[in-house]
Amino acid sequence: MSQAFYRKWRPRLWEQVIGQEHVIQTLRNAVRAGRVGHAYLFSGPRGTGKTTTARLLAKAVNCLDPDPAKRPCDACQHCAAVNEGRFLDLIEIDAASNTSVDDVRDLREKINFAPSQGQYKVYIIDEVHMLSTAAFNALLKTLEEPPPHAIFILATTEVHKIPPTVLSRCQRHEFRRVPVAQIVAHLSQKAAEENLAVDEDALLLIARQATGSVRDAISLLDQLSSTGQRVTLGEAQVVLGTAASETVLALVDAILARDPAAGMGCIHQALDSGSDARQFARQVVDYLRGVLLVRLNNAGLIDATPEVKAHMAAQAAQFETPRLLETLRLFNEAATDPRSSWQPGLGLELALAEAIEERPAPPPQPAPTGPAQPSPRSVEATPPVQAQPAAPQAGEPAKPAGTRAQPAAPAPQSENAPAKSEAAPASTPQPAPASGGPGLAEIRASWAKIRQAVKQRSGLTAAALNSCRTFTLKDGVLILGYQTELVRSKMETEENLALLREAIKSVVGASFPVRCVVVGNKTSIDVDDPTLAGDGMVRTALDLGGVLLSNNDE
Ligand SMILES: Nc1ncnc2c1ncn2[C@@H]1O[C@H](COP(=O)(O)OP(=O)(O)O)[C@@H](O)[C@H]1O
Ligand SMILES: [Mg+2]
Ligand SMILES: [Zn+2]
Repeated sequence: MSQAFYRKWRPRLWEQVIGQEHVIQTLRNAVRAGRVGHAYLFSGPRGTGKTTTARLLAKAVNCLDPDPAKRPCDACQHCAAVNEGRFLDLIEIDAASNTSVDDVRDLREKINFAPSQGQYKVYIIDEVHMLSTAAFNALLKTLEEPPPHAIFILATTEVHKIPPTVLSRCQRHEFRRVPVAQIVAHLSQKAAEENLAVDEDALLLIARQATGSVRDAISLLDQLSSTGQRVTLGEAQVVLGTAASETVLALVDAILARDPAAGMGCIHQALDSGSDARQFARQVVDYLRGVLLVRLNNAGLIDATPEVKAHMAAQAAQFETPRLLETLRLFNEAATDPRSSWQPGLGLELALAEAIEERPAPPPQPAPTGPAQPSPRSVEATPPVQAQPAAPQAGEPAKPAGTRAQPAAPAPQSENAPAKSEAAPASTPQPAPASGGPGLAEIRASWAKIRQAVKQRSGLTAAALNSCRTFTLKDGVLILGYQTELVRSKMETEENLALLREAIKSVVGASFPVRCVVVGNKTSIDVDDPTLAGDGMVRTALDLGGVLLSNNDE
């Protein structure tokens, strides 16, 4: 292929520009009426037609067609020269390049020379926000008193970086992201002209991926069709490294329905069709972020198709905010989880298993994992997680009868069971995790509520609590694990700890001393670590069946 499609397909006439009707209409009218301004600022996302439109305007003002309404004609000498990049009176400056400062300084000297070929000298300054202050000043002087034969077209993706002094001298036009349907129609027409065989649903996927940038959409199509084979949806998914967003939707539905089998099905479908696990996790995060924005009444910030937005709105109504945040956090973790590199789906599966659990909680660490065998957690294909009945209520302190007898014996299987049966310890004769002393189950079950209670009192404490990676109960002391000393020290102030103790008390009805330790990247706390040794008196009291009502050893 000699020329990249996006260049080859650059619109040569006004009507070939898609999705920017509001801009094109105004410019056409100005050309027709002979009332073109001297300074324009085109802003908008990349690949939406700013440079293209700037060149069309340059062509139009210099076109030789006698009828102004037909300019640019794309046939006269001048139009041809612009198309071929050899029109002397069109000067394009890329502000992102190093030489641009000098270019702009030169401008002031050169600008007074009359155009050599056409009627107007047109200066297109692309990525104008990249100009240095010195260059902006030089430009400003020129904009203050432009010679009648000069037209400036500034283009930028970051309009907020343009000094107000410059803004106020330009006619501003905002380029929009182009809607999916328009991109599909455009690609489909272009593909037909090129005799490319592309399935319509592949185009749809491409257009969605491009998030409104025509250039990106064209480049993706270019990449996919370079094999010369028919471009199918399946192939597009593989090459683009994505699962169709439908899979993401279905996954979120499964999470809402607490349906592990359906959720696992989605994950495996995405992975089997060639998606990268972390990329898929990122898509889930992006999507959930949209759901969150809807919940926070900020749907305007979402960059998605109307259909997807409708789904987000429907799902937003079903999520409770804490659960949504927790799910978002879990998948965000999966998106960055280094374990994915050797066990691609693991991060996703864990996130799903935890998200489906009845109660949101920090990364679980039910069983102590000896430092010698940091055995990875594994998840069965269909975790036996079921929606559980309501968690134990407040005022019902921990009494996991019969399980405290062997506190020293590590649980036989490590963290194999996302099913965390300790939610119903009394009825389940399973060995509890060694660390599962009185209250851990309740604390875990109520963690979201506890965090909520803390948050109501202090946002700062809640924030410090949020960075807790894991927690456990050791000798009646609640131990919070933090990744670094810095975050640990943020939590371990007397005020924070007191607040947390009160919150726990108000939610689970019992009070626990709290300590914070550093666990690094571990997701569990090694309760055998001698530095974690608890208070012997407390321990003894608990062994005798005591229930902590007030904290006394912090
Ligand atoms: N609105 C549009 N209509 C048709 N094609 C477009 C449009 N926007 C971009 N393109 C395609 O993308 C390429 C790059 O567009 P360009 O005008 O350079 O984007 P920008 O300057 O906004 O980043 C063009 O050559 C054209 O093929
Ligand atoms: Mg451009
Ligand atoms: Zn012409």
